[in-house]
Amino acid sequence: ARKPLVAGNWKMNGNPTLVREMGDALNKLDTDAMNVVVCPPSCFLPLFANTSFATAGQDVSANEEGAHTGDIAASMLRDLGCKYVIVGHSERRQDHGESSQLVANKAKRALSEGLVPIICVGEPLEVRESEKEQEYVEQQLLPVFETLSKQELSQCVVAYEPIWAIGTGKTASPEQAQQMHAFIRSKLAEQDSVIAEGTRLLYGGSVKPDNARELFAQKDIDGGLIGGASLKTDSFIAICQAT
Ligand code: 13P
Repeated sequence: ARKPLVAGNWKMNGNPTLVREMGDALNKLDTDAMNVVVCPPSCFLPLFANTSFATAGQDVSANEEGAHTGDIAASMLRDLGCKYVIVGHSERRQDHGESSQLVANKAKRALSEGLVPIICVGEPLEVRESEKEQEYVEQQLLPVFETLSKQELSQCVVAYEPIWAIGTGKTASPEQAQQMHAFIRSKLAEQDSVIAEGTRLLYGGSVKPDNARELFAQKDIDGGLIGGASLKTDSFIAICQAT
């Protein structure tokens, strides 16, 4: 059985007060039954010490070290206690022109430092409207399959975040989400059936306490990647408890 995972992506939000509030609240949560991950802006990572939950970077460089101003190395995230790192979030792809090949390279770099990459995929509205979302997501995944070894692939988490559902309050229906998750798992199975069974697939896009349970109940949805609702302790905890 796959252990549920709920990750809160703070994006460029939060402050030291939220770090303290969220840390205190989550430390009281019984996290045996699920993995809880907080992904704050990287400057706040050192403020999360001695937590019962995991932390993650929101992005990582594909390079090992050196002259890359503004970037963060996987080894640095690991040294700050991160277990996970998000790669290929649609906002990185959009704001910074990140290609799927670059995203795959970032995942590989993260894995080589012992971090679990949360690889994000998801289609924009016009692709969904033309019913080409599976082809689109498959194209995003291909460089990952070509770049990572099977052993590396077996360590990854994949998050499906349809862009039209991010921050819009318009979540994918449980059926729409399940259908894409099943498709992603089938693509993983073409690589390796054991890996496909073991890989956790997260849904992201306007997950709230009142829709989380139904989404997480779907067969191929193993948890969520939460944006806005991860900035409020009550909401985020309710979503964690919906797994
Ligand atoms: P929202 O939950 O705010 O829609 O954001 C989803 C997301 O992009 C998480 O990475």
